[in-house]
Amino acid sequence: MNKPQKPAPPARSGRFATGAAAEANAYTASVGFDHRLAAQDIAGSIAHARMLHRAGLLTKAECGAIERGLNRIAREIQAGTFRWRPELEDVHMNIEAVLTRRVPAGAKLHTGRSRNEQVTLDTRLWLRDEMCALANELHRLQRALVELGRKYFHVVIPGYTHLQRAQPVLLAHHLLAYVEMLERDYERLLDCLVRVNVCPLGSGAIAGTTLPLDRASVAIELGFVDARHRPMLTQNSMDAVADRDFVVEFCAVAALLAVHESRLCEDLALWSTSEFGFIRIGDAYTTGSSLMPQKKNPDIAELTRGKTGRVIGNLVAVLTMLKGLPLTYNSDMQEDKERLFDTVDTCRASVRILTAMLGHVAVQEDACARAASDPGLLATDLADWLVERGMPFREAHHVVGRLVSVAESKGKPINRLTPAELRKVDKALTGAALRVFDLSHAMKRRHAVGSPGVKEVRRQLDRWHKFLSHES
Ligand code: ARG
Repeated sequence: MNKPQKPAPPARSGRFATGAAAEANAYTASVGFDHRLAAQDIAGSIAHARMLHRAGLLTKAECGAIERGLNRIAREIQAGTFRWRPELEDVHMNIEAVLTRRVPAGAKLHTGRSRNEQVTLDTRLWLRDEMCALANELHRLQRALVELGRKYFHVVIPGYTHLQRAQPVLLAHHLLAYVEMLERDYERLLDCLVRVNVCPLGSGAIAGTTLPLDRASVAIELGFVDARHRPMLTQNSMDAVADRDFVVEFCAVAALLAVHESRLCEDLALWSTSEFGFIRIGDAYTTGSSLMPQKKNPDIAELTRGKTGRVIGNLVAVLTMLKGLPLTYNSDMQEDKERLFDTVDTCRASVRILTAMLGHVAVQEDACARAASDPGLLATDLADWLVERGMPFREAHHVVGRLVSVAESKGKPINRLTPAELRKVDKALTGAALRVFDLSHAMKRRHAVGSPGVKEVRRQLDRWHKFLSHES
C-alpha cells in the first residue's frame, strides 16, 4: 500500500488525488501571519465544543479532552514550542490538526462549523481586544496633551490660518484642539466596536447547519453581548461569512486618527524649527544627522506623519479587495489580515510613542512670547473696538486695514502709531483704542464657549483633566 508521507491536510482529504504543489502551498498559506489569531481561535473552539456538548453532539469526556488538548496547544504557542506548518494553510487548520492527532475527539470539533465563520470570529475577537487597548492608549495621549497645556497654561502663541499669523491663542487651546479630535476618534472607535462585537458562529460555510446548534449561548460565552447582556448574533449566514465591513470601518477610523496624529506631528515639527522655536523635543525623542553635527531632527513626529500613508493605504487596499467580490466568502478576503494587523500595530505604536514624546517637550516661553507680541495679531480686536462704538464691522475692517498699511509704510508696529496718526485714518480712532493691544487683557476678553481666553481654556483644561483622570 502506498502510504502518504504526511497526513493529508484536513481541507484536502478525500476529494484530492494529490497533495498541493509546494509553491501553491507557499503562495496560499496564511499561517505566517494569521498565527496571531491563535488565542482567539482556541477560545472560539472551546466555546464551540462546550456548546456541542450541551447540544448532545459531544460527550462530556470528549468535550473535556478537546478543551484540555486546546489548552495545551495554547501553552505551547505561548512558549514558542508549537510548530506551525505552512502546508496546513492557516491558524485554524494547524491547531485543529495537532489537536486531532493528540485527541481523537478533536475530529468532532469542526461539527457544524466552517473556517469561513471561524476566520471572521477570530478576527472580531482579536480586533475587539485591540480596539479596547487602543481606546485606552488614546485617552493617555489626550492626557499628555492636557498636562502639557496645564504645565504651560499662561503661554500665548499666535494662532495661524494659511500658516500666517492670525490671532493669539493660549498654547493650551491649540493643544486642546487635538484633544477634541482624539475624543471624536475615541467615540468612533467605540461606535465601531458595537458592530465588531457580533458573533458569526452558527453561520456554517455559507448556509448555516442542519445540526441543533445554540448560537446564543456561544455568543454569550465569548462576550458577544450588548450593554444589556443580550447576545449579539449575525442575522444572515451569507452576510456573516462575506462581511468585512467591521474591518473597513476600523481601518477608516484608524485612518482619520492617523491624520489627526499627522497634523499634530506637523505642528510639533514646525514648532521645533529654529524659525518657530516654540518647543524643544528632548534628546531621547530626537535623532541626529550622520553628517551635520548641529542637527537634531524630530524623527518621531516625521515618521508618525509618514506612517499615515500606510494606514490610509491599508483602508484603500481592503476596500479595493472587497469591491468586486461575489457573495459569499472568497479567498481574496484572506488579504484583509495583514492590512488590519498593520493598521492596528501602526496606530497603537504611534499613539504610545507620541504620548511618551509629549512628556519630553519643553515649551520655549520666550520665543512664544516674542511671537505672540506681534500687535498685528490683535488687529481684529481693534475692529471689534470700533464695532462696540457703533461702526459697522465691514467699515471697521476697512479702517483697521488702512491703519495696518499706514503702520507698514511708516515702518513701525501698528500699536506705536501716534494719536494724530490714528485720527488721520478715522476720527473714531482715539488714543484709547491702543489699549486693545494689551495682550494679557486681550486674552481675558475671550469668554464664549470654545474661545481661547484664559477663563474658558482653564475651564476646558479642568474639564478634560477631570474626565481623563477617571479613565484608565
Ligand atoms: N485563511 C482563510 C482566511 O484568512 C480562512 C479560511 C477560509 N476558508 C476557506 N475555505 N479557504 O480568510
